[in-house]
Amino acid sequence: MNDTNPTAPLVSAVDVKVHFKIAESFLAQRLAGATSVTIRAVDGLSLDVYPGETVGLVGESGCGKSTFGRTTVGLLPPTAGQVLFDGEPIWGPGGRLSHRALRQRAQIVFQNPYSSLNPRYTVAHTIGVALSARGVPRQRRRQEAVELIERVGLSRQHLDRYPHQLSGGQRQRVGIARALAMHPDYIVADEPLSSLDVSVQAQIIALLQDLQAELGLAYLLIAHDLGVVYHMCNRVAVMYAGQIVELAPTDQVYGSPGHPYTLSLLAAVPGRRRRSKLSISPQSSRRWSLARVGAGPGGPGQSLGSADPDSDEPTAAATPAGCRYYPRCPRRQRVCLEQEPELKPATGVAPAAASTGASIGIHLVRCHFPGQ
Ligand SMILES: Nc1ncnc2c1ncn2[C@@H]1O[C@H](COP(=O)(O)OP(=O)(O)O)[C@@H](O)[C@H]1O
Ligand code: SF4
Ligand SMILES: [Mg+2]
Repeated sequence: MNDTNPTAPLVSAVDVKVHFKIAESFLAQRLAGATSVTIRAVDGLSLDVYPGETVGLVGESGCGKSTFGRTTVGLLPPTAGQVLFDGEPIWGPGGRLSHRALRQRAQIVFQNPYSSLNPRYTVAHTIGVALSARGVPRQRRRQEAVELIERVGLSRQHLDRYPHQLSGGQRQRVGIARALAMHPDYIVADEPLSSLDVSVQAQIIALLQDLQAELGLAYLLIAHDLGVVYHMCNRVAVMYAGQIVELAPTDQVYGSPGHPYTLSLLAAVPGRRRRSKLSISPQSSRRWSLARVGAGPGGPGQSLGSADPDSDEPTAAATPAGCRYYPRCPRRQRVCLEQEPELKPATGVAPAAASTGASIGIHLVRCHFPGQ
């Protein structure tokens, strides 16, 4: 992790919503009369990413991480809200940053490097397309491609290969080189390690960190491996059902999680081995215990039926009134059903670390009873 000295955010998502309307099945149309259902993939998400920092975005599959990441790089328009890049709105009639300008400054590295590379293009061609988009003259492209491919740890011989002639790790390096060809300031890395062997993952992590130190890149790292997130991120945003439920500097999320969903994610990380790898303090590791998460409701008014941590509810199409985590929450009380919690500075969790910047050091939790 780098220590960042933030001034203004590089990327600023303001109350972003991305809703998809999909047609209902014929049966549902006949039974319920509904012709479409709205998937609220991202539902009012605000997040700043500062120059040179890494923000981790975690949460279970389907909670809206990729959708949000794509919206911040200009690939997917929001239904409502706005994304500012270096202070300039990128969407809608007020969008002042051209897509060409944005494509240069904001890039994405995908989970599956095989499907994200054109199988009919050599590596040189793939990188050349990006260089051409940046306006690099044809005669300079080969030399720049050589520099890029060597920068990501491959050799010039790899330039003439096709994706199927490369290993998974090599393909991911090509994906990173293609992103770097645009000279970006901001990269969304969408589960960039998921399809790789553990040993290769470590190499790609090291590469991403080196590039960040050298080029001052800001990363939005979408990941499900909480060990990787702990290792790489300055801050962590925990997403649930299209919203951020917790946002704080990494040490605070892992050491003093405020939201019961964050606790359940941490508790799901395999025990001792993971904790020692992450050097979590004994105090923190106690907080990771399953007992804490699985413990029955302790406060008054919590005899509202047993919470089910494995419940599938809510889906992105159907969210309950009040708190979206209610069906799974061991801490729930009646007010949770009646009043949707806001994302706000947490009380009852450890205070923000003094070393982090004033605004980004704040620990935010979307819960009526944080840190209990
Ligand atoms: N193009 C789309 N059309 C309809 N639904 C979509 C589309 N893209 C994503 N979704 C839905 O939006 C929700 C969030 O998806 P996604 O952002 O991919 O989640 P995550 O990356 O957290 O796994 C899911 O329910 C998914 O099925
Ligand atoms: S608001 Fe209530 S139901 Fe929601 S997470 Fe907090 S305690 Fe649980
Ligand atoms: Mg995804």
